[in-house]
Amino acid sequence: MAAVQPLVFRWGIISTGFIAEAFVKDLRVDPKTRDVHDVVHVVAAVGSRSVEKAQTFIDKHAAGDTSIKTYGSYAEVYADPNVDAVYIGTPHTYHYENARDALLAGKHVLCEKATTSNAAELRALLKLAKERNLFFMEALWTRFHPLTKEVKRIAEEGSLGDPVVLHADLSGDFDIDNIPKTHRILDPHLGGGALLDLGPYPMIWAVLALYEHPSNKRALPTGITGAMLKTPLKGVDSSTSFTLNFTEHLRAQAILSCSITLPPPNPGVIIRYRNGNILINPPIYCPKSFIVQYFDKPGSGVVVREEKRVFSYVGGGWHFEADEVARCVREGKLESEIWGHDKSLLLMDVFDEVRRQGDYKFPEGVEKVFA
Ligand SMILES: NC(=O)c1ccc[n+]([C@@H]2O[C@H](COP(=O)([O-])OP(=O)(O)OC[C@H]3O[C@@H](n4cnc5c(N)ncnc54)[C@H](OP(=O)(O)O)[C@@H]3O)[C@@H](O)[C@H]2O)c1
Repeated sequence: MAAVQPLVFRWGIISTGFIAEAFVKDLRVDPKTRDVHDVVHVVAAVGSRSVEKAQTFIDKHAAGDTSIKTYGSYAEVYADPNVDAVYIGTPHTYHYENARDALLAGKHVLCEKATTSNAAELRALLKLAKERNLFFMEALWTRFHPLTKEVKRIAEEGSLGDPVVLHADLSGDFDIDNIPKTHRILDPHLGGGALLDLGPYPMIWAVLALYEHPSNKRALPTGITGAMLKTPLKGVDSSTSFTLNFTEHLRAQAILSCSITLPPPNPGVIIRYRNGNILINPPIYCPKSFIVQYFDKPGSGVVVREEKRVFSYVGGGWHFEADEVARCVREGKLESEIWGHDKSLLLMDVFDEVRRQGDYKFPEGVEKVFA
């Protein structure tokens, strides 16, 4: 019997910054290195606000590959008939209009976190994607890692019991006193600050361990509390902490935090159960190891067994989400079952509420849609 040919999935990349580079590097990793045989990724087009930047980007990552189209606008990527899906790597506050334009041009979309400036923008995008029968996913890459799948399996196989408390922090020192004040992390016009940039990562672990837990039956948090510490530099949040209560079916709480002025703590995530703990080592956006501790009896805290799991693969880890997009599109799905629209909306609803409590308002004109 002839071997089934892999799906050749053609990406159009918009923007040429840090994350676009990381994503494209991973698209060019041979999928067989991660035991993927049904999908092959192709970079079909790169669009930038400057055609020279797009060309420099291709020269750096795919020198000599003349099949890749270079464009001096994002619109030309959306219009390219050889592009199956558009990857959006612009700053958060551009995601809404970029994704909207790509969907209106008939393209499937993979959009970086934070998906939009607010939840209303995301709701508008999801409605449009469904009306146009197009796939849309937030690029929450961590959720597709082999390590994350294994944490989920252990969290749900029963021996630890139901989750009670989860602590998760993503911090990263952006050296804010010395970087240009125009840097996107400090610029409120670009959605700067810790919450929208780093907050998605503590959130993905809360979603995985609490929201997705079978005992929670997909109930939304019943309480959200947040506190923001602002930097006097540009008024964006330098450190934010927020808690989520899940009390409809569980009695569980997520205690989450993020900071742009500190290195990450270790462990970065602790999921606590009456029968033990799961400890996830930083960086929590791309952890390579975790430890499971089992107690001698419920609530004792006496660890009688400890298991460490270590993972490795070729590439940076962004290719797993690309595989998911290609497979979902091939199967005619409009959303991923692993990181679906409900989860992206949960994140944006939480961020809106924490910003409201922390009195972090974006400058006039940043938000394009309001609830
Ligand atoms: N998944 C992850 O691991 C991860 C990691 C880092 C960042 N991110 C997300 O990716 C997005 C971009 O982050 P980044 O670190 O890649 O940023 P970056 O290095 O500053 O790149 C952003 C790119 O967006 C384009 N752009 C369009 N309008 C812009 C504007 N007004 N100001 C600045 N750039 C503009 C630019 O590309 P052109 O000039 O070529 O058009 C620029 O190179 C953010 O939403 C962030 O949350 C995700």
